[in-house]
Amino acid sequence: MCGIVGYAGKRQAAPILLEGLSKLEYRGYDSAGICIHGEKSLQIAKAKGRLQVLCDQTENGNAVKGIIGIGHTRWATHGAPSDVNSHPHLSDSGKIAVVHNGIIENEAKLRTQLIAKGIQFRSETDTEVVANLVGYYYEKTGNFVTAVRKAVSRIEGSYALGILCEDLPDTIIAVKKDSPLIFGYGEGENFIASDVPAILKHTQLVSYLEEGEMVIFNASSVRFFDGNGDPVEKKREQITWELDAAERGGYDHFMLKEIFEQPKALRDTISPRIQKGEIVLDGIDLSAQYLQDVRKIYLVACGSAYYVSVLAKYIIEKTCRIPTEAVMASEFRYAEPVIDERNLVIIISQSGETADTLAALREAKRLGAKTLAIVNVVGSAIAKTADQTIYTWAGPEIAVATTKAFSTQLAVVYLLAAYMARQLKTMDEETYRAWVTGLEQLPGEAEKVLTAEKVEAVQYYASRYYGHHDAFYIGRNVDSAICLEGSLKLKEVAYLHSEAYPAGELKHGPISLIENGTLVVALATVEPLFDKTMANIREVKARGADVLCVTLEDMAQEAQKQGDGILTIPRILPVLQPSLSLIPLQLFSYYVALNRGCDVDKPRNLAKSVTVE
Ligand code: AGP
Repeated sequence: MCGIVGYAGKRQAAPILLEGLSKLEYRGYDSAGICIHGEKSLQIAKAKGRLQVLCDQTENGNAVKGIIGIGHTRWATHGAPSDVNSHPHLSDSGKIAVVHNGIIENEAKLRTQLIAKGIQFRSETDTEVVANLVGYYYEKTGNFVTAVRKAVSRIEGSYALGILCEDLPDTIIAVKKDSPLIFGYGEGENFIASDVPAILKHTQLVSYLEEGEMVIFNASSVRFFDGNGDPVEKKREQITWELDAAERGGYDHFMLKEIFEQPKALRDTISPRIQKGEIVLDGIDLSAQYLQDVRKIYLVACGSAYYVSVLAKYIIEKTCRIPTEAVMASEFRYAEPVIDERNLVIIISQSGETADTLAALREAKRLGAKTLAIVNVVGSAIAKTADQTIYTWAGPEIAVATTKAFSTQLAVVYLLAAYMARQLKTMDEETYRAWVTGLEQLPGEAEKVLTAEKVEAVQYYASRYYGHHDAFYIGRNVDSAICLEGSLKLKEVAYLHSEAYPAGELKHGPISLIENGTLVVALATVEPLFDKTMANIREVKARGADVLCVTLEDMAQEAQKQGDGILTIPRILPVLQPSLSLIPLQLFSYYVALNRGCDVDKPRNLAKSVTVE
């Protein structure tokens, strides 16, 4: 979604803002803009389209002089992508400039009230309402801080705001509610940003703004205030990511880099949690006594994280024998779930900022459930709101299509399931030992799926099948959950229509869509169900489908008899097999997308972190 960068220092602001915005491109956007305070006046440059358009328009920022400014990449919500709807927005008076992430829910009412006061609007955006509201109060009070406070007290919805005032050439005010915002401490310069990569080149020392907090800063000083306007001391946190982690590092795309980073991400996530043969989840309080009283576990998430939840249902029910349900976060709140303190609600999110997931978490807490979050971004809203958090140590994930975050979320699910089963005594010693060993070996096994030979096989089938118009992913049991993720990847990056069905469900309707040349990707890694999946493959082949089968190396010969194409993965502990079967599907989507000429890291209409409902 939208991205914000702000800078106050001694260097020229515009090139720094543009470079920072380029690091936020992964969030998804359709226009970009900057406002630089040129000592006497606010200078705005903004343009629809890629950031490069703005860079060309401003000679990479060199044409807009000034040492303080705010920048923005916009993902349209109110009003189509256009030059005029791009941020920053100026107040009607021209005194106030605003960049905004989030949605102002009462914008229509506020707009009507401001128009009634004679204030004119130029865009269709909700953000211009904020600019005009601050402008209105600034006219009335002559005080920038008071004006922002008054405006913020009247707006409803979610926002991270960066605000400049023409009369104060050295001040930026920023406010946050339900949309991420960080403050970065530099030497003789300071920053704000939506996310760490935007400022990582300049500083690794940051503070995360909490709900309702405001920061007022210039090049050399900073003050933080809570929602009541009282000063607060903020903890300074050291970012441990290296700059390289947020760069492409020789790969053509972040997505490919992140696929190949999976063995490392798995190692970083798993190895600190296995100590002397025992699974250790630091800071997690899930006692046997508590777990015995849990009547149902809910897993709540969106998109790929929801598909991890679907897998987790199989894994947790099998090992812990507690009824478990996966629910899409966007549906959770409005379904009036039957939840109280006897429920454990597990929230899964890479970004930790997804609006629907955060809202579901708050609802679960309100209903009295114990909440546990599996999150990748340290200090994110979900990490802070949940009662307990287990981090996936995937490192920064930049590509919109998630890969290594999915793998590490799944790894945490395995660790958690085994940990809970151990507490509950629902897993015998021998099985527990096999899980621990299997998890320790998982990163190495993932490496085996990323060898040149395996990748070339995927490239071959991608170049053979990329021209198809429709694809079906079928599989049974945990394979069916991996199919959901494989199918989503193909839609996201290759814009190829695809559906995922449990293989046994196909003949209850969707098989009517199988015709000559329909692509069917069949997963057959669950050995006890192998023959049944083969029978399903025969059914679709009889109707003309081209079948690409993903199976275990030692079952390939048998599968070859049915499928047109075969991709193989090594045999590991059966319950952990999904961690490997996923990888060829990620690669397949990536190479199909390349063959179709798609912009893999910036897929159309998508945003990395979806901070609006
Ligand atoms: C996956 O490739 C997606 N881009 C998307 O489905 C994502 O998983 C979803 O929006 C949830 O995001 P989160 O993990 O940051 O909460």
